[in-house]
Amino acid sequence: MRAIVVSRPGGHSSLELQERPNPEPRPGEARVAVKAIGVNFADIAVRLGLYEAAKGRYPIVPGFEFSGVVDRAPEGGRWRAGDPVFGVTRFGAYSSSVVVPQDQLFPCPAGWDFPQCAGIPAVYLTAYYALFHVAHVEAGDDLLIHSAAGGVGTALLQLARIAGCRAIGVVGSEHKTALCLRLGAEAVILRDHRWERRAKELAPSGYDAVFDANGVSTPRPGFRLLAPGGRLVVYGFAELLSKGSGGASWLKLGWRALRVPRFSPLEMTASNRAVMGFNVVFLFHRKELIKSAMERLLGWIGEGKVSKVPVTSFPLEQAGRAHQALESGQTMGKLVLTL
Ligand SMILES: NC(=O)c1ccc[n+]([C@@H]2O[C@H](COP(=O)([O-])OP(=O)(O)OC[C@H]3O[C@@H](n4cnc5c(N)ncnc54)[C@H](OP(=O)(O)O)[C@@H]3O)[C@@H](O)[C@H]2O)c1
Repeated sequence: MRAIVVSRPGGHSSLELQERPNPEPRPGEARVAVKAIGVNFADIAVRLGLYEAAKGRYPIVPGFEFSGVVDRAPEGGRWRAGDPVFGVTRFGAYSSSVVVPQDQLFPCPAGWDFPQCAGIPAVYLTAYYALFHVAHVEAGDDLLIHSAAGGVGTALLQLARIAGCRAIGVVGSEHKTALCLRLGAEAVILRDHRWERRAKELAPSGYDAVFDANGVSTPRPGFRLLAPGGRLVVYGFAELLSKGSGGASWLKLGWRALRVPRFSPLEMTASNRAVMGFNVVFLFHRKELIKSAMERLLGWIGEGKVSKVPVTSFPLEQAGRAHQALESGQTMGKLVLTL
């Protein structure tokens, strides 16, 4: 099989295409001939050596999600050779062949092609967990969603609409506005020097929840924008990296890390607002949670309540180009690698 391997963390050239022996499934597992792989911001952190859960695991094959066709599954299991599936894995998806426990695979929804299916699990599970398990949103809530045109952002917008919430999107570039409005944002704010004032005008009583994966400059204003009882959910730190740089400048990284805001329990209690964080990659072992989330998501997809978002494809061997595009901060929807 072919796999993209990071032997030593670094720039785009550290994503190396290698030939490896085909993995064999053990009882309870299935092997998938991969057709497409979802690219996530976390893969960039893995490539750079900044991803906590990947530490000590190099050489590593990055990648959390894939789609393809089952090509080997033990008799009597849930899957049969030829089934079109998508799935999650804790690393290892940047590969032409993936072996995972059978309950980490899900059926491709009708009318969704392999690139679209590969882009489902990471962003929708993240958005689902953030909305329903962390922020506990309810119908009628006012939500502020940063990076609303990105992978997780477009999933948050769609699930917020399903939950009956009013969502305001924030984006870094004007060209992203139309997509957010199409996916259900009531209004979209450009992240310029006036964004906080504009956000305040759109929800004068404050937001019930703010979703932030910028991580450095926006969480503090996001906390200020909360209504009493509101929750600030910080789930990413894209701003730690320089847009489009390809490598990590340790000096700049360290400086930005110092600027990640700190919130004291005292100020949270005094203002009746909360700050929360999570990482879905640590939830893959919670089989019941993943199963019920995915059942609901696939139900909504089947009912046409979740629409397809733009997908930009790159060949597996050009994984570096896909990372470069995501690092530019200009992409919309999902990026995938195809075979
Ligand atoms: N905690 C979790 O479980 C979890 C799971 C999945 C993803 N995440 C996090 O969620 C975020 C979104 O992930 P994604 O894969 O869906 O990516 P994405 O949103 O499609 O792309 C990242 C977006 O972040 C914004 N951004 C802000 N500063 C940036 C910078 N310095 N460089 C590049 N982009 C920058 C850009 O949008 P705007 O300029 O429009 O804001 C960019 O389009 C990431 O921070 C990721 O680490 C967390």
